[in-house]
Amino acid sequence: MIYLDNAATTFPKPETVYTKMDTFYRTLGANPGRSGHKMAVAAEKEIEDTRAVVAQLFGIQDPRRLIFTFNATDAINMGIKGLLKQGDHVITTYLEHNAVSRALYKLEKRNIITVSKVNNSQDGFVDPDDIKNTIIPGTRLIVMTHVPNALGTIQPIREIGKIARENDIVFMLDAAQTAGVCELDVNAYFIDMLAFTGHKGPLGPTGTGGLFVGERVTLDSWREGGTGFEPTSLSQPEELPFKLESGTPNTVGIAGMRAGIEYVLLEGISKIRAHEQRLTDKLIQAIGNDDRFILYGTKESNKRVGILSINVEGFKPYEIGAILDQSFGIAVRPGLHCAPFAHQKMGTFPDGTVRISPGYFNTEEDIDQLIAALYKIVSERI
Ligand code: ALA
Repeated sequence: MIYLDNAATTFPKPETVYTKMDTFYRTLGANPGRSGHKMAVAAEKEIEDTRAVVAQLFGIQDPRRLIFTFNATDAINMGIKGLLKQGDHVITTYLEHNAVSRALYKLEKRNIITVSKVNNSQDGFVDPDDIKNTIIPGTRLIVMTHVPNALGTIQPIREIGKIARENDIVFMLDAAQTAGVCELDVNAYFIDMLAFTGHKGPLGPTGTGGLFVGERVTLDSWREGGTGFEPTSLSQPEELPFKLESGTPNTVGIAGMRAGIEYVLLEGISKIRAHEQRLTDKLIQAIGNDDRFILYGTKESNKRVGILSINVEGFKPYEIGAILDQSFGIAVRPGLHCAPFAHQKMGTFPDGTVRISPGYFNTEEDIDQLIAALYKIVSERI
């Protein structure tokens, strides 16, 4: 199998992730922060050490402001629903994943908030001026993706973050597709909340992720429960991360995510991104000038990550996905990618596109085989 679906989840993981999880769970699988015995203390240390490693990845100065979640969706819901109050206005884009769109829609439908969606250019970029011109007196939050999962285009987040900061608006970034792949610094980009998942760019396992909660933000607790201390208090503690982390965490997943991020930091984000860009560029060069292939998003290499949405003349996206899988052993993701509004803007709704997303462990030969398969499909119409 040639796996080119790394935007859904990266595969395989670095060898250190597998060995770390196996060793950790066999030797330190106690409940962290609870029982006080040696194994529980060691498990707790693993969690706190991981918090520091994640903080390093995003330039977070106080690791206690980093909350572990079960994925980016969990983090996005925690941030949006923990922040917004009756009467708040929110600015977002059409490029969002349903994690953002649906969380906002739920609050909008209940008449708690109002939402404005900002347009994007045909090649997949939001203009910071459009965000600026959408601000009204009640605007409390700007929430958007760093890179839309259907398009791969890197959004001008520093400019947008600056606009948010200048207007005293909270800026929340969905970094599901960019954590571990693009340089991210919460201070340099004026990010107040950053949601990420551990199983994509950070090369960790599923069931991991996090939310950075900046100093300008106070969130309501997302769930209430045991924190391992102050058991007689009726209320959830106010202190971070405990206010937002209740119940037994995914310790083995967190340990695996640490190994993944350590691998990323050791290899270097720029090296990883350059590799994924090179593979995507190779594909664009091979099919980009043939009318039988429609490519979406910019072709400019430095403005995109390793995600390319295409369509093939005469075929539905799901047909190409199935042929690549069954006849060529190549895994891609066809369809709407849980981002229906992005596809509406791209003109690819309701069938979507075929999304090809190379990862760090793919090779030039993998792309050569994909190119050969695509040309075989269009010329032989199999
Ligand atoms: N959100 C993931 C994707 O883009 C699953 O495929």
